[in-house]
Amino acid sequence: MNDIFFPAGFLWGTATSSHQVEGGNQNNDWWEWEQSPRHIRDGLPAAAACGWWEGKAEQDLTYAAELGQNAHRLSLEWSRLEPMPGVYDKAAFARYRKLLELMHKLKLTAMVTVYHFTLPLWATKMGGWTNPALVGQFRQFTHECAKQLGDLVPLWCTINEPAVLAYLAYAGTVWPPGHGSIPQGFCALRQLLLAHAAAYHALHQVCGKAQVGLVLNMPWLEPARPASILDTAVTKAQDWLLTGVILHALKSGWLMPPLTFFPCHTPSVYRSFDFLGLNYYGRYAVRFDLKAVSLMFGNHVQEPSVRTESSDWGQIAPRGIYHQLLRLSRLDVPLYVTENGVYDNTDTVRPKYLLDHIAAVHRAMSAGADVRGYFHWSLLDNFEWAQGWSTPFGLIQLNPQTQERKLKASGELYSRICKANGIINNSLDKLSIFQ
Ligand code: FCB
Repeated sequence: MNDIFFPAGFLWGTATSSHQVEGGNQNNDWWEWEQSPRHIRDGLPAAAACGWWEGKAEQDLTYAAELGQNAHRLSLEWSRLEPMPGVYDKAAFARYRKLLELMHKLKLTAMVTVYHFTLPLWATKMGGWTNPALVGQFRQFTHECAKQLGDLVPLWCTINEPAVLAYLAYAGTVWPPGHGSIPQGFCALRQLLLAHAAAYHALHQVCGKAQVGLVLNMPWLEPARPASILDTAVTKAQDWLLTGVILHALKSGWLMPPLTFFPCHTPSVYRSFDFLGLNYYGRYAVRFDLKAVSLMFGNHVQEPSVRTESSDWGQIAPRGIYHQLLRLSRLDVPLYVTENGVYDNTDTVRPKYLLDHIAAVHRAMSAGADVRGYFHWSLLDNFEWAQGWSTPFGLIQLNPQTQERKLKASGELYSRICKANGIINNSLDKLSIFQ
């Protein structure tokens, strides 16, 4: 690989989310869901997670800065900040202020996600995202976050992966509330888009200068048999439901079927983004199959599917991140890779994954994508939703029982990349993974 340099000021960071790292919270829907062990693959709940809430965040963020990172993406836990509707918790806001102040001191640019998958229990009781009233509640909550924390946050993400949440939790049954109703999935996605737009405007009302974006999970979907009309049609259908329908709404302000019965123009959604965040993990080959009803008749059949032992984040395919960045660049705003990573119990796959994906981001930039930063998922192993603790994504290994941490070889590699602001071969030579 030739040496690769990134522009000055490029953000190198890692991403985390509140529930996955904080621990010790019993006031959200995920806590309730984890009480039933069959909901979690290894039966292990988040429990203390990475201990961030009770103090370990400081040590991990300081270490991230020492490793050469200059940014971090974290999320706010709605159930802590607004434990009852309209009641804000001062101490919880103070805790996030303390973290954001530390990040400022450490020169870690803060990217803050207002909502990353977890709902306060009171919001779940209202029916979660299928209740239109939650959009207004979310707008008010975001407004409060902007007022209390906005001076410390240059980059805001409103909502993380609305389509993933809508389909796994409302159309599907694997995340809470597990409704298993396709119409409810579309309804939830519509509300999430409206909530995003409401939050976008609330943030701008309070923090004029903030940059606000939406984060999308965009796997690279390709027909399993490129010449097959049916494979191509189901691939397009899946892509529309995951990504196309959202990008269309953001670009044009039109909510389209199946989010609504008839197309519906919604001015608040129109161009409600200053940047876009791409979460990219892998590629899927889609094959027409009449039996795959819940997947819109398209089965995922990628071979070899190296990451399917316990869950499926797709086949490793760096060209997918390249294509998705170029696709997003047509919306003419700055882009961030807000998540990219791979679960890997032995840290043998991750080093090459990291190099290949960062090189592909650079290629996309050379081809015109205005990418301003890269956030690896994740800083350290953490609670991975329905997979529990079985799919470690961290650059730092964590033993959740003892809370011991240990830098992985890929963590050392990423540190060299961050410090060099690129992939500089002679700075990598002495790494044990390349011996
Ligand atoms: C993403 C989620 C993140 C984490 C990674 C592995 O889709 O945003 O919370 O679970 O997958």
